[in-house]
Amino acid sequence: RDLFGGARANSQGVELGDRAALAAFASAIEVGRSGAALARPVIGGRARDGAARDVTSPIDGRTVAGRVVEASLEDSDAAMATAHAAHPAWAATPAATRAAALRRMGDLMERDTGRLVHLMQVEAGKTVDDALAEIREAVDFCRYYAAEAERVFGAPIDFPGPTGETNRMTLRGRGVFVAISPWNFPLAIFVGQISAALVAGNTVVAKPAEQTPLVAAHATALFLEAGIPAGALAFVPGDGTIGARLVADPRVAGVVFTGSTEVARIINRTLAGKDGPIVPLIAETGGINAMIVDATALPEQVADDVVMSAFRSAGQRCSALRLLCVQADVADKMIEMIAGAARELKVGDPRDLSVQVGPVIDAEAKATLVAHVEATKARARRTHLAMQAPAEGTYVAPHLFELGKPEDLGEEIFGPVLHVVRYEAGRLDALLDAIDAKGYGLTLGVHSRIEATIEKVVRRMTTGNVYVNRNMIGAVVGVQPFGGHGLSGTGPKAGGPHYLHRFATEQVVTVNT
Ligand code: NAD
Ligand code: ALA
Repeated sequence: RDLFGGARANSQGVELGDRAALAAFASAIEVGRSGAALARPVIGGRARDGAARDVTSPIDGRTVAGRVVEASLEDSDAAMATAHAAHPAWAATPAATRAAALRRMGDLMERDTGRLVHLMQVEAGKTVDDALAEIREAVDFCRYYAAEAERVFGAPIDFPGPTGETNRMTLRGRGVFVAISPWNFPLAIFVGQISAALVAGNTVVAKPAEQTPLVAAHATALFLEAGIPAGALAFVPGDGTIGARLVADPRVAGVVFTGSTEVARIINRTLAGKDGPIVPLIAETGGINAMIVDATALPEQVADDVVMSAFRSAGQRCSALRLLCVQADVADKMIEMIAGAARELKVGDPRDLSVQVGPVIDAEAKATLVAHVEATKARARRTHLAMQAPAEGTYVAPHLFELGKPEDLGEEIFGPVLHVVRYEAGRLDALLDAIDAKGYGLTLGVHSRIEATIEKVVRRMTTGNVYVNRNMIGAVVGVQPFGGHGLSGTGPKAGGPHYLHRFATEQVVTVNT
């Protein structure tokens, strides 16, 4: 089956190695830089005015990326009312029409690559590679969910029954979905959540992360340009107060959330405590993701994959490697190679094409990471890597600390800080138990050339995405459906064939003929 429902496969992005493509891309970004960026609440297709605040760029801590008018509590209530009123008409719109709007959305994001890259760089500090990959992922979500909607919602399913009876199942949207997204994928996750909810026949009230309203505002405008009816998608930029208000609203039919485990729990409690219908929560959260490297692994490949998994996107991926576990026999050599490869990374202004590690999202994130680095320096067995970061802006340099045991890393550290432990060859089971005991289940890496070891790890661990002999980030829509369980979320996997079902109700009609 063609997962994308037609001739198109995954979005192709831009081939930066091709001179002509690079020149066209550079001029597209130049054009994308022009024009002020302003995010405002958009309800019923109309933008609402109010006092605006500056959105400051993490690149230097001074540049104003744009301005945002944050939604008031009244705005969020109005957004819920509008989305609620718009639901019957949108739910009655054929799945093929909803899917067509999503495909147009994909095309529009490709059209606006220059502007989107610019916004992601200046607002979220993304490198060119990361920004391009993110646009591709957002486009893929739209095209993949469009194809999935035609499959799941396009045709009813008939079940065999006794003679003289028909049994037919159909799926339809639930009502108003609240979509709450994080700053680390300000486009892909924002668009992924909304596109899934919309194409399944729900109307949506979307709240982006407070750090990244500008990218989200542009994406919202594109959804409306793509033909999503004005009432079907409301945009309410704001902080957790707005998110909490939306979740508590009695009209909510479902919540799709990506962010921290802590906030997922708060949302879960709010939903559970409400009167009325039981409201489903789809939550994708964090992880203390481990990679196991045994003595048969290829050191050069390990070094490459570890550096990519731990430090790309400045470590600000939920999938990123946090705890590297190396078999003791080869640990000295492996760690030395990894630290050597990491030292080659260039940290700095992400608009420079040669930079691989940009800033972390804001001063608060930097302060948390610096505090962790300082505390870990004091207690680590050894510091293998401590790079320097630019002083201006919110940069945190890559670090590699050796800890005594897996239990010494107790929380998700969301930045370019990697921790390594050694394990003895006969103690793999105990290592797997220790990783499992952390309670997360998002990503896991294994580097080994022994089939039995790989099989053992895969059988023992229930982690959502396991990567064998490669890096462990950058799941591709329709190729590596993504998501975890336990403290890492509820499932189902984004970009996979079971995702849309969770946004829908099922009805079976039995007719005695
Ligand atoms: P966060 O939980 O602080 O914020 C996420 C969103 O929740 C934001 O929009 C925020 O405003 C909102 N929010 C905050 N308090 C709320 C409340 N009480 N009620 C409703 N909404 C509220 O997370 P973050 O710092 O933005 O993102 C980083 C986290 O996201 C990390 O833990 C990372 O692992 C996780 N993440 C997971 C995935 C995944 O697919 N599993 C992907 C990206 C990020
Ligand atoms: N889906 C993103 C990744 O796999 C978070 O890195």
